[in-house]
Amino acid sequence: MNILALESSCDETAAAIVRDGRTVLSSVIATSVAEHAVYGGVVPEIASRKHVESIVQVTEQAFRDAGLSRADVDAVAVTYAPGLIGAVLVGVNFAKSAAYGLGVPLVPVHHVRGHIAANYIAHPDLEPPFLCLCVSGGTTALVDVKSYTDMEILGATRDDSAGECFDKVARVLGLGYPGGAPLDKLSQSGNDTAYTFPRAQVHDSELDLSFSGLKTAVINLAHNAQQKGEALNIADLAASFSAAVSDSLVPRSMAALDRTGYRKLAVAGGVAANSRIRADLERACAARDVALYLPPLALCGDNAAMIGCQGYYEYLAGKRADMSLNAYATMDISRG
Ligand code: KG4
Repeated sequence: MNILALESSCDETAAAIVRDGRTVLSSVIATSVAEHAVYGGVVPEIASRKHVESIVQVTEQAFRDAGLSRADVDAVAVTYAPGLIGAVLVGVNFAKSAAYGLGVPLVPVHHVRGHIAANYIAHPDLEPPFLCLCVSGGTTALVDVKSYTDMEILGATRDDSAGECFDKVARVLGLGYPGGAPLDKLSQSGNDTAYTFPRAQVHDSELDLSFSGLKTAVINLAHNAQQKGEALNIADLAASFSAAVSDSLVPRSMAALDRTGYRKLAVAGGVAANSRIRADLERACAARDVALYLPPLALCGDNAAMIGCQGYYEYLAGKRADMSLNAYATMDISRG
């Protein structure tokens, strides 16, 4: 079964064709990140307009790369939540037109379920149930993946996502937008004990997280140093900050494994590319004999292949949308 998949939830316009869930025949991504960089963050209207400009081109390229024609498509899958609403609407509307024109079923896909499914593409042996640490620009959550389509959030951030925290700290350090990857690179040459940053605990909730205090602590430290004319070692600061994020994520992932009894941990989302988090998870999982599934860097960020993969399992579970499908800025993954 060939699924044409579309993704437009933030600043990447993506199309892919995926066969039987796990074989990616093509995956094309057009990013508007350069347009947003000058503003220090994603400008929703610019993102929406770039999707309008790019979506036909990426779709045509996906057909060319796969060597398929329109008649070969059996269903259309699309991200319909969560995301920047104007951006998601572009993909949803295009997918509706495509499904209508081709006369094939339309399958709505939750974006974070797609990030989790990136692991099925990378690891052919991975099957639910397992625990997934979802860490992206918009989401930070520990998800119990009970089956391909039955999921429950065990813990989540009460405020900022890990990606938001990386991006804001990187901006204060002058590393541009999106700053997660350059901050990661810089941190690799820094001393992770040079600065002391908080590791927040959420009262009465072992698996929930909080990053806003950490973000504020780094920003205050940088501003105070600037006002006093003191030099900061930004490699040390990046390393100390990355250690604090990892120290929030890794122990909670281990606690969630204990609670569920799972021996499999997957990681999903853009922040899954972070070298410190990957290394700490590898160590912690090896010590507990837990199998760790990390997506390759190319599948960590937004792409449509992951939507085609999850779309296949949603299709098998009977999920369909009609031509009244709408887009949603927020949606619980368990409802997805
Ligand atoms: O999953 P994603 O592409 O978008 C969403 O679906 O939200 O994640 C983007 C986030 C950004 O905040 C970006 O700075 C962060 O992932 N990111 C990283 C790294 N690479 C990307 N954060 C930390 N370390 C990295 N190596």
